[in-house]
Amino acid sequence: MTDALPKGCRLIPLASRGDERGSLVAIEGTSDVPFDIARVYYVFGTTAGVTRGRHAHRALNQLAVAVAGSCTMLLDDGASRVEVRLDDPETGLTLGPMIWREMSDFSPDFVLLVLADAAYDEADYIRDYAQFLALARA
Ligand code: TYD
Repeated sequence: MTDALPKGCRLIPLASRGDERGSLVAIEGTSDVPFDIARVYYVFGTTAGVTRGRHAHRALNQLAVAVAGSCTMLLDDGASRVEVRLDDPETGLTLGPMIWREMSDFSPDFVLLVLADAAYDEADYIRDYAQFLALARA
């Protein structure tokens, strides 16, 4: 069993409308995602052995779905750390503000789809772990 996820992080089921031809998941703003979708990006072709992420966001909300393959997502709220294996295209992981995340152990076919509630803004990133801890514990 996965340990309790930090506040703002939740695994949510995504309804699959599959039939004998295969599977299809549709994600619609507000009904399936707990925020308005302003940006979509995806991560693929990940180099074996690397770690991605290693940052937190001050205000951004995201929903991440491993649409192919798998990776391990470490979630850290400044008080505790939990690891979640993302390996299911029918499950999304919400990531709220002030969650340090690190992704590793990527399968070669890994594709991560991410929905976000704001445009890319480097000023929203906290990329220094010591700074993150200081802000999270303030
Ligand atoms: P980065 O945040 O380092 O990726 P990850 O968290 O997966 O390790 O982003 C990689 C590069 O892409 C970096 O130069 C910022 C840029 N980028 C954008 O331009 N727009 C985006 O929406 C995202 C997520 C990243």
